[in-house]
Amino acid sequence: MGYSITQKILSKHLVEGTIKEKNTIGIRLDQILFPDSSGTMVCLEFEALNIPKVQVKTVVSYIDHNTLQVSFENADDHLFMKTFSKKYGVIFSRPGNGICHQLHVQRFAKPGETLLGADSHTPTSGALGMVAIGGGGLDIASVMGGLPYYLKMPQITNIILEEQLQKGVSAKDIILYILSNIGVKGGLGKIFEYTGSGVDTLSIEDRTVIANMGTELGLTSSVFPSDHKTYEFLKAQDREQHWTEIYPDKDANYSETITINLSEVEPLVAQPHSPDNVVKVRELENIKLDQVFIGSCTNSSYLDLAKAAHILNGKKIHPNVSLVISPGTNQVFQMALRDGLIEKLVSAGARILECACGPCVGVGQAPPSKGVSLRTTNRNFMGRSGTSDANIYLASTETAAVSALNGTISDPRLSNIKDFNIDPKYIIDDSMFVYPEEEDNNEVEVRKGPNIKEVPIRKELDEELTGEIVLKLGDNITTDDIMPAGAQLLSLRSNIPEISKYVFSKIDSTFIRRIKKIKNSFIVAGENYGQGSSREHAALAPMYLGLKVVIAKSFARIHFNNLLNFGIIPLIFKDKNDYKRIDQGDILAIKNIRNIIQNEKTIIINIQNKGIKVETIIDLSPRLRSILLAGGLLNYVKQNK
Ligand code: F3S
Repeated sequence: MGYSITQKILSKHLVEGTIKEKNTIGIRLDQILFPDSSGTMVCLEFEALNIPKVQVKTVVSYIDHNTLQVSFENADDHLFMKTFSKKYGVIFSRPGNGICHQLHVQRFAKPGETLLGADSHTPTSGALGMVAIGGGGLDIASVMGGLPYYLKMPQITNIILEEQLQKGVSAKDIILYILSNIGVKGGLGKIFEYTGSGVDTLSIEDRTVIANMGTELGLTSSVFPSDHKTYEFLKAQDREQHWTEIYPDKDANYSETITINLSEVEPLVAQPHSPDNVVKVRELENIKLDQVFIGSCTNSSYLDLAKAAHILNGKKIHPNVSLVISPGTNQVFQMALRDGLIEKLVSAGARILECACGPCVGVGQAPPSKGVSLRTTNRNFMGRSGTSDANIYLASTETAAVSALNGTISDPRLSNIKDFNIDPKYIIDDSMFVYPEEEDNNEVEVRKGPNIKEVPIRKELDEELTGEIVLKLGDNITTDDIMPAGAQLLSLRSNIPEISKYVFSKIDSTFIRRIKKIKNSFIVAGENYGQGSSREHAALAPMYLGLKVVIAKSFARIHFNNLLNFGIIPLIFKDKNDYKRIDQGDILAIKNIRNIIQNEKTIIINIQNKGIKVETIIDLSPRLRSILLAGGLLNYVKQNK
């Protein structure tokens, strides 16, 4: 039986285990990326490991999430990451250079290689035929220190794309179509590998959109073949030497196959407040808009700006709409200036933002109260925009641009968009990257402002655990729900005691007061707990507040690992109906827990105040069991150095 693309790449990077579905495997990483939002903590964690230089070939740190610098904390974080990068051998991408995933595809992603990133949309680089996976910050720090990355070998699904898209329909509609069919949990434990004649009709920019938003399906990654389009893209980026051809074997073994006829895909839109709440654009055409945002790591390429400029050229946006556009990278911005795209966009009434995440993560451009915003971003969780009662819709660039003209959500196919071809000449200018020098790094001072505090560390797991259910939650709780973002809170990412005051602040304003009174706290949750962003602060800050156990019907992959990394025990209900038997305020006890975690696959929890027992699953590899016993990954790595 032949290999899929994923199996080919992973087998070449395998250091532990076998390439068999659901087996735990350890892989070697060729590349690492981390943005500022998670990066300051990655840097602090790496420092705590006491290793003189990063042990991975290519490591890139990016400043892209919080570039507002409304006070000193943010600027201090940038300086910290810049000096850390110089000392430890990391390429540093300066603020203004752009969004990490778009930049990484342009300048670093290589077919056949492996990438681990401290950001959930790291799979974007899978567009170039690499296996790119998002992880928690502590995972990234330990891999930078020379350890393998461990994961359960995902199931590989073959997505066969046939035919081609209609005019006015784009790659964003393909991924929204998949989201509408399988939902935000449909990709858990899987990698989607795209094949079929339809792949050839998609540009690399299109493929990045699909690979990027595979994260919203819960996928471990998304992988495209490395074909002639990949070669042409890399050549245009002056990197043709990085190209190798990669296709699956003809008899490749996939665990499932899904076929999509691209000609049947229509313009789609995800309604508030979940990326899988998808309907056809034509079903929503009376919805009035206050704001349209074109940007984010999903839709901010030259192709996106060219499409928007083409649609808006010579016209004016609706007077009730604020149109904001953020070019993804400095390269895109320079090309858009050179080719007159910015002039067309600004003449139509667009407001141009710097090359950064910006509105996607609530850093600027919050919509008005109860406002309606149509965005080309990848997430529309409640409150993420910075306005808790705003309604955020997700759509393609074509839909966004046409809707900005009309003032209502509009089907781009009705707007008589003329055919246009783009053959951009990429501007190669790496001057916004700072490359580390081969100098004696002892001389380099890592500068830390007063807001940058040490990483809190949990002590070894106790023998017995008695605690109280501090919060009971429903399905699909996001890491944004647990640890909100936005400009104010992003400035506190290097200061866990401060940022922990905001845990669950958007869900329950009494949470902090209550958890502080409890020595050991437990949380109970429904399906897919911790979906969304990879932010490890959603585990680290609750750990700091005394959270010991989360019992859920199921977990999102990265958050599950983050909980383990910080010594919080993630338990899964054996019988999902038991969820109903546990309530906020219940007192739970687990006896002999060290021994159970070392040897067992189930844990019986006594609900003391009700006199009942509930059975939970703790099915972990021996390594993960040792991490829990040690009180987290940092302790484990130090003990095993
Ligand atoms: Fe940034 Fe939003 Fe992507 S925060 S990395 S643009 S998901």
